[in-house]
Amino acid sequence: MRKKIFLIAILSCLSFSTFAQEWVVPDDKKKITAPFKFDSEHQKKGEEIYNKTCVSCHGHPGQGDFAKLNPIPKDPASKEYQTNTDGDLFFKISEGRVLMPSFKNTLKAVDIWDLISYVRIFNKDYVQVYTESKAESSFSSKYSIKVTFAQDEKKVKIKILPTHKDSAVIEGITMSLYAKRYFGMLQIDKSKRTDQNGNVSFTLPTDLPGDSIGNVNIKLNVADAAGFEETVSDTTFKVGIPTIHKNLLDNRAMWNVRSKAPIWLILAYSGAVLTVLSVILYILWILAQIRKKGSPGI
Ligand code: HEC
Repeated sequence: MRKKIFLIAILSCLSFSTFAQEWVVPDDKKKITAPFKFDSEHQKKGEEIYNKTCVSCHGHPGQGDFAKLNPIPKDPASKEYQTNTDGDLFFKISEGRVLMPSFKNTLKAVDIWDLISYVRIFNKDYVQVYTESKAESSFSSKYSIKVTFAQDEKKVKIKILPTHKDSAVIEGITMSLYAKRYFGMLQIDKSKRTDQNGNVSFTLPTDLPGDSIGNVNIKLNVADAAGFEETVSDTTFKVGIPTIHKNLLDNRAMWNVRSKAPIWLILAYSGAVLTVLSVILYILWILAQIRKKGSPGI
């Protein structure tokens, strides 16, 4: 009797784990499609990334040599793997689950789409769902964007509105703000989503350095559902602390040593250079003498 209960317990655990293996992808993510047509260039890049990042667990597509994990990492060429929509794959690779790592912070969106273009090679029935016009219709053509700076609150406020009444939702659009620096861009605040009125605001740090009169170049990016960022506003605001950027050859710059050198060092250095030069000249002179003496006819 005890054995029976034990068996039932094990069986129910097993069935529970098969139930848990269902990997549900939200409907709106399922429908996401790649922003470009899969071609051999994308597939080649995808293959490189696959062989570097995925092959250790998923094996070589079509060979079933995946790692023996539980749940198994499927062979990308398998029917079960290929029944995923492109959106499913994008979601699963981005988010991960238990043993399957999340790649949204280590791979760029374009890398993940390249991977998907590669694994589709192993499905001869695959036809890419791709709408060309989608890539062309930019965010700025669908929305009007207003970017303002609220001095008293130290906030950059953004409001978006659809350009046509019927077009597009304004809620839940991910935006990121960046300040342009000498080298690259500095993200300000976190990425945020617009509220139901299309508003979002970013708090500026109080110690943001600007140029000599405090101007900072601020860029606003939106990410589309497929993870691609697009710059929708590029504005200069007087939001930074005025900063005089030192000329790199100034007296106080670390690498300008000429003006710091003591006189004895300069003299010693010049003396050494002169000595070496005169030794070389002397040797040349002797060589010339030898040649003269050794010339035929004497
Ligand atoms: C550490 C091992 C490991 C690595 C590395 C790994 N995966 Fe996985 N992957 C798994 C496991 C285990 C599962 C099954 C997860 C589950 O079902 O809960 C999985 C599942 C998946 C699925 C879902 C398949 C399905 O059931 O629909 C996709 C897609 C996937 N991996 C793609 C990738 C890609 C692309 C890479 C490389 C960028 C990668 N994986 C790297 C272990 C790994």
